[in-house]
Amino acid sequence: MDTIVPKKRLLSGMQPTGAGKLHLGNYEGALKAWVALQDRYEMFCFVADWHALTTLAGTGQSIVADARSIALDYLSAGLDPEKCAIFLQSEVPQHAELFLLLGMLTPVSWLERVPTYKERREIVAEREGGEAGVSFGLLGYPVLQAADILVYRAHSVPVGKDQAAHLELSREIARRFNHLYQTDLFPEPQALISEDTGTLIGLDGRKMSKSYDNAIYLTDTADDINAKMKKAFTTPTRQRMSDPGVPEGCSVCQLRRLYDPEGYTVQWEECRAATRGCVQSKKETADILNAALEPLRERRKLYADDPAQLDRILAQGAEKARDTAEATLREVRRLMKLV
Ligand code: TRP
Repeated sequence: MDTIVPKKRLLSGMQPTGAGKLHLGNYEGALKAWVALQDRYEMFCFVADWHALTTLAGTGQSIVADARSIALDYLSAGLDPEKCAIFLQSEVPQHAELFLLLGMLTPVSWLERVPTYKERREIVAEREGGEAGVSFGLLGYPVLQAADILVYRAHSVPVGKDQAAHLELSREIARRFNHLYQTDLFPEPQALISEDTGTLIGLDGRKMSKSYDNAIYLTDTADDINAKMKKAFTTPTRQRMSDPGVPEGCSVCQLRRLYDPEGYTVQWEECRAATRGCVQSKKETADILNAALEPLRERRKLYADDPAQLDRILAQGAEKARDTAEATLREVRRLMKLV
C-alpha cells in the first residue's frame, strides 16, 4: 500500500560575493549535493544577495548582476527549477521580517562568539581603518541566515563545513523561539555537510578561494582551464622530470584524484616514480576537468542565451518561496502577539 509521506524540506544558499561566480570548491563542497538531493526533498535554493551587503554596502559595487550569475551557476550545475525553487533572497521580504523579529530574542553575546564574525571583523576593521566599518549587519549576519532557514521551517541545510557554526546558531535561535513562545513551530535545522572531499587545493597550492585568485570556475572555458593548468603549482622540489613528485601536496594531482577516481592511482605512482612529467599530467588533468565541466557549460548556455527564461524561473521560485514563508510568518506574528 502506498502511503504519501510528505517530503522533508531542505534549504540552502550562497553569497554572490567576489566575482559573482562559483568555483570547483563551492561546487564540490555544496552545490553538487543540492543537485543530488533535489529528487528526495522539497528544496529551496536561493542567492543570498542581502548577505553580500555585509561586505559590499557602500562600495558602489553592483550586486544584481552577480546574483543572477550565481543563479545561472545553480542551473548549470543541474538544479531543476521544476523540482527546486530558485530565487534571490531580496525578492522575499519575509526573510527580512523574520530577521528583525528573531533579532529581538538573540543575545548579542551569542553573535560576538561566532568565529566568522571575529575573523571578518578584523579584516573589515583593518580595511576600513577602524571599528566604524564593522556594521550591525555584519554582527547580525547569522541572524539573517537563521531567518533564511527558519522562515521555511527547513529540516536540513546542505552546506560546506565552513557553515557549521552558523547552523549551530540557527538551531539555538530556533530552540530559544520555541521555548519562549512554547511552540514547536521551528524544527531545529540540521547541517547536511557534504562528504568530505577535503578542502580543494587551489592552483597555487593554497586553499581554493576566489580571494586568492587560484580557482577554477564553473564558467571557465576549456581554454581558460588549459591555460590555468599550465601555470598550476605542482611539487616545488620537482625541477626536472627525473625528480620524484609528491602528489599529496600537488594541486594538479589532487584535482586528478577527485575527477578521475578510478584512474588517478597510475598517474600518482608515475609522478612519485618520476616516470610521468608534470606537463603530461597537467594536460591530462585539464582534459578530464574539461570533460567534467562540459555538461555544465552546455546547460549554462541554454539559460544564458535566454535571459527572459531566467527571469521567469526566478519569479516563479520567489513566488513559491513567498507563499511558504508567509505561512510561517502568520504563525510567528500570532505567537509574538502582534496580531
Ligand atoms: N553563509 C552562507 C555562505 O557564506 C550563505 C547563506 C546565507 C546560507 N543564508 C543561508 C547558507 C542559509 C545556508 C542557509 O555561503
